[in-house]
Amino acid sequence: MALFCNFTIFQKPFVPSCSSQKTQFSNTPQNTNQDTIFKIKGPATLSGHVTISGSKNSSLALLAATLCCSGSSLLHNVPNISDIQAMASILSSLGAKVESFDGKMMINSDGVGKVEVDSEEMKKIRGGFFVIGPLLARFGEVVVALPGGCDIGKRPVDLHLRGLRALGSVVELRQVQDGKVWAHAANGKGLVGGRFQLDYPSVGATATLMMAASMADGITVLLNVAKVMIEGISTDVFVPDYWALIKGAGTDTLVIWGKSLYGSECVIRPDRIEASTFMIAAAITRSCISMSPVIPSSVSCLIDKLSEAGCKISQLDQHILRVSAVPAYVGDDLKSFGIKTSPFPGFPTDLQPQIMALLTTCNGSSLVEESVFDNRMTHARELQKLSARIQVSKSSAVVFGKDEGSSLCGSPVTARDLRGGASLILAGLAAKGTTVILKIEHIERGYEKIDTKLQILGADIERLTPLPVLL
Ligand code: EPU
Repeated sequence: MALFCNFTIFQKPFVPSCSSQKTQFSNTPQNTNQDTIFKIKGPATLSGHVTISGSKNSSLALLAATLCCSGSSLLHNVPNISDIQAMASILSSLGAKVESFDGKMMINSDGVGKVEVDSEEMKKIRGGFFVIGPLLARFGEVVVALPGGCDIGKRPVDLHLRGLRALGSVVELRQVQDGKVWAHAANGKGLVGGRFQLDYPSVGATATLMMAASMADGITVLLNVAKVMIEGISTDVFVPDYWALIKGAGTDTLVIWGKSLYGSECVIRPDRIEASTFMIAAAITRSCISMSPVIPSSVSCLIDKLSEAGCKISQLDQHILRVSAVPAYVGDDLKSFGIKTSPFPGFPTDLQPQIMALLTTCNGSSLVEESVFDNRMTHARELQKLSARIQVSKSSAVVFGKDEGSSLCGSPVTARDLRGGASLILAGLAAKGTTVILKIEHIERGYEKIDTKLQILGADIERLTPLPVLL
């Protein structure tokens, strides 16, 4: 039975029953240091099947949500990537017991007693900030360092903070050193239900406020929420009285009843951005590959765009997709198409860089518009080093296809952020010659074993760590 959750909070006590070998959480997911590079020899032709890992962003939110629960929570299908390791470190630094084994994570936060989160890991990932809601609700006070994350533009937390104020807290932003947020419950005890309308459907603020409201005393109404946080809820299997806790799934308004929450068990849904990246890999290499598990409705925007370009996408089973762009099928080759990113269910900003790489190989020119983040075009410069012809103006770019001056050719390039780095891998697969990608630690924040998965599909990609120079 499909059991994918994007976001759930548990209300029934969960008794851990896993007998597998457990290991205390380790901080070395993929053995990457700052000198490790990817070397890709192209052009590649891919074939076969790839397994999609659990969603990074759902895992980050659910890991933080375990702080809302007493007892143990067991998450299945958690990807082994550095952002998750950083989140696990943050939970451990607070006093939570975190164990990982066989793609699962068991978290028990009964021992958490700290209200100050000052872990170095906070500066690395955005999701670390999610702990503010549960800690504030549990202890009536919290001090949290401002979060890091990919450098893709301004990433304020004003909506998180204004929402927490609407739930009965006093919040101050202290700009000491890197900046910290200090918040305490106005009543000296905990949060109380309230009403808050987000100016923008922020994914992070929605997650923060869902967690805080789930533990607040009374009912909370959140308006203009990010629908992505609850997409797919109707296909999920929840504990029977889940619906009594949060109503409004699939709409932009959530009504949340605060309660005492207990740890439970859930399976993280497949990562729609990873699945989409492999779909684009099939397209950019004019290959045919299949992938699972994928929730087809979660990638429907991309299915539409790839179909418009001329690819054939087939659903082989409930959670299996096949993407074909083989020359015999696409005839005169793929046609260019335009995209404009917007909040879910619009075209995902997290796919804009990968689509830009694909468009350099299509026929015709296209317009790529980024409307979610204000500095998410730095990959264009790296793609230009691979002989792509792209003109960037602020947050939009005209991408010229292969018949208009782009002709991908291998070169050294640098990953500047996670998805931009993925676009370089895709371009490297399509480029003639050798592409060397530096700073792959950005890519490994969000893609589990991407090199191994591509090797299985037939790509010539190597992970190389230069030996230290002996003086
Ligand atoms: N915004 C505000 N104020 C806020 C919060 C957000 O103005 O308090 C603005 C941001 O400046 C931005 C826009 O709202 O312009 C969207 O930000 P949002 O809060 O929705 O994004 P996020 O929570 O910071 C998450 C994902 C990102 C993904 C975005 C958009 C996590 C950990 N990160 O970020 O994932 O791009 O939503 O879908 O969930 C990635 O996986 O590569 C990635 C960057």
